[in-house]
Amino acid sequence: MKLIVSALFIIFLEFIVSNVNAALMRGTMSKIAKYIDYTPEQVDLFVTFKTIYKKKYRDNNEEAIAVKNFINNVATIDSQNEKFRRGETKFKTAIWINSDMNRLDFLESFTGYVGKPMKRLYKTKYRRDKNLPKYLNYFEDGFVTKVSNQRYCGSSWAFATIGALEAQFARKTGVLRKLSEQNLIDCDRSFDYSGNRGCKGGNMRIAYEYLIKTGINAENIYPYRGKGKYNCNFNSSLSLGKVYDFVEIERKNETALMYALYHAGGPIAVAIDASDPAFQNYQSGIYDFPECVNEPNHAALLIGYGFDYSFTPPAAYWLLKNSWGVEWGEKGFFRISKDANNLCNIATDASYPIVA
Ligand SMILES: *[C@@H]1O[C@H](CO)[C@@H](O)[C@H](O)[C@H]1NC(C)=O
Ligand SMILES: *[C@@H]1O[C@H](CO)[C@@H](O)[C@H](O)[C@H]1NC(C)=O
Repeated sequence: MKLIVSALFIIFLEFIVSNVNAALMRGTMSKIAKYIDYTPEQVDLFVTFKTIYKKKYRDNNEEAIAVKNFINNVATIDSQNEKFRRGETKFKTAIWINSDMNRLDFLESFTGYVGKPMKRLYKTKYRRDKNLPKYLNYFEDGFVTKVSNQRYCGSSWAFATIGALEAQFARKTGVLRKLSEQNLIDCDRSFDYSGNRGCKGGNMRIAYEYLIKTGINAENIYPYRGKGKYNCNFNSSLSLGKVYDFVEIERKNETALMYALYHAGGPIAVAIDASDPAFQNYQSGIYDFPECVNEPNHAALLIGYGFDYSFTPPAAYWLLKNSWGVEWGEKGFFRISKDANNLCNIATDASYPIVA
């Protein structure tokens, strides 16, 4: 019985998700004074959005800002999807729960990567005569935990670090365990801004240095709170182990990145430029915005690569896990064009930990 109920619930959920955008596009007529600047269609769309995502705004001012952001995002979404229909781009966008945030607020709340000069480079000699597989997906291989949501905290650096470490521990122990991002946010912190800064951003290589010295707790004993204001609560007697060293992959070289991803036996933490407003509303496909060339501002977990044969010619992609919840992108994952001149700087700061 329980099974049937949960199966029905899943079907119901899928029904809701697949109908959200259709419903958003239909809407019903409504006229409210505070929406005076907008057409009835725009107002309907926003009211439907509010209803579907159960949005609550503190007051009319906050709501007026939300409508403005939402309408701007809808324009971005419409123009991106039009490009997709014309075959000029390989990804689609959609309204989602954070389509009422403007670009700068969104970036401040949902990214959190700070670049640091590299200390050393990837030196390991890999056998390059070996043919790499055409398709790699560490999620399917069981080395990647489910998608999280960093929630208004610039902690993407912690999610990328932890994602890479989870796989290396899983390879060592045979068990995939969710590790604690909050542990890193609270404990790997420097108050003079020379190192990581909790919800205000950080860098994976600094995090490995903490993990080399200290160790890490599991998520279940040190759960995520999405805030940077707590004291360190690391329990060394419950540490799951330390990091022994880490590998930094040759900068801006996607071939080196592909070899490293395969030979690491698990995901690689990468930094990307996530500043394009269409990326905020990415829904599916291969992100291929040609002007994705700014310095990275977001960290994510590279978990695979492949070709998408629904495009002619087949399109090469990198597969990544994001930390914006499952409502964003392809159930929380996304794809970026591969071998496209280091698009979004995906190969500019890539690294993974080694466990003893
Ligand atoms: C750490 O965990 C151990 C084992 O559960 C427990 O006995 C101890 O009190 C914990 N220490 C702290 C500081 O919470
Ligand atoms: C990129 O990395 C590959 C694989 O290690 C190497 O063969 C190639 O020479 C590198 N390319 C450049 C431009 O350094």
